[in-house]
Amino acid sequence: MIKLKLVIIFLYLCRWINAYQQLSEEGYSLLANITEIESQQLIEDFLTPILLPRVSGSEGNLKVQKYIIEKFQTLGWNIEEDKFTDSTPIGEITFNNIIVTKDIKATSKLVLAAHYDSKYFEPPNDGFIGATDSAVSCAILMDLANRLDPYFDNRDPESISTTLQIIFIDGEEAFKSWTATDSLYGSRHLAAKWENEYVAETYGSQNKAKNILSSIEVFVLLDLLGYKEPLISNFYTTTSWLFIELSKIEARLFKNKLLKISHVMHGMHGMQDPKETKLEDISYFDTDSINTYQAHIEDDYIPFLQRGVPVLHVIPWPFPECWHKLSDNATAVDEAAFFNLNTIFRIFTAEYLNIDPNLPKITKNN
Ligand SMILES: *[C@@H]1O[C@H](CO)[C@@H](O)[C@H](O)[C@H]1NC(C)=O
Ligand SMILES: *[C@@H]1O[C@H](CO)[C@@H](O)[C@H](O)[C@H]1NC(C)=O
Ligand SMILES: [Zn+2]
Repeated sequence: MIKLKLVIIFLYLCRWINAYQQLSEEGYSLLANITEIESQQLIEDFLTPILLPRVSGSEGNLKVQKYIIEKFQTLGWNIEEDKFTDSTPIGEITFNNIIVTKDIKATSKLVLAAHYDSKYFEPPNDGFIGATDSAVSCAILMDLANRLDPYFDNRDPESISTTLQIIFIDGEEAFKSWTATDSLYGSRHLAAKWENEYVAETYGSQNKAKNILSSIEVFVLLDLLGYKEPLISNFYTTTSWLFIELSKIEARLFKNKLLKISHVMHGMHGMQDPKETKLEDISYFDTDSINTYQAHIEDDYIPFLQRGVPVLHVIPWPFPECWHKLSDNATAVDEAAFFNLNTIFRIFTAEYLNIDPNLPKITKNN
């Protein structure tokens, strides 16, 4: 009798746990093996249009907001704007976080986030574009939403309770120098707001009396990506297993020859024959750093982490050489790094959400 009960409980739990599921080989091919033309399109469609100075409160910032919103309107996602004003060292500024959600009724979310504002510099340095800071990260998120969108509604019924939410954060940058009040304007506002807002109208009633933050399974923040040879540390024990999944995806792509090999390698001088390249020469993910890394890098995850949200911070250390310099423009973007990170995050999101690209796509006709 006791045995029977245990079996029943076990089966019952299985029905409700949406485990992280690695894709099949066919799934990898379908999602990662994209043509050269498609990979160029990524740059044209999602990066070039946002490569302009987009300081919070500026015209360029509004232009990028409009661009992001239009893209997600086309996809039919739920769009929420978190608009507010705050005082900064250069005066009152209006900020706007843009939150897009595939399925607003899902009980929980995988959150992917990046900041879309660029840093303010006084003339003559006001042409700062911030290609790696953080236009590339925004482009990666827009591209993965676009490519994965047709597969969501095909997921098995046990998986649909978790959806994808993408947050385009405004006001990450300090206007003068980085302090607790001159930085993270958007993320501080949004985390505080969601702490005091309650979940309503989901598929289940189990979310009553839970605030919005508690529906975030993990907050994945991308920043300073797109420069050649990123080396990314594994910062948090709670999300270390997901970091390891990222490195497993990288290894599998490498094995299947689906990674682009840059001409310049870690610790290598000059060119190298791509056929001779070993994964350890080019890997972006330092999984062992979970045991050795002592510091954290302040970024938009902080207001969420402080409120108990599990965080995965994807940022290279050392920072790109072009960091906060005028040279952080289109020429700073390494095509291989951009392409590879884009593929890695597309697969990561599919695996996390149990998306199966072998099933037929569902497209809306609107
Ligand atoms: C990727 O696509 C190319 C061209 O269609 C094909 O030759 C190659 O075998 C594919 N690779 C994988 C790993 O699916
Ligand atoms: C990008 O930055 C580099 C290095 O500072 C500079 O030579 C180049 O002219 C810039 N390109 C554009 C399009 O502004
Ligand atoms: Zn910055």
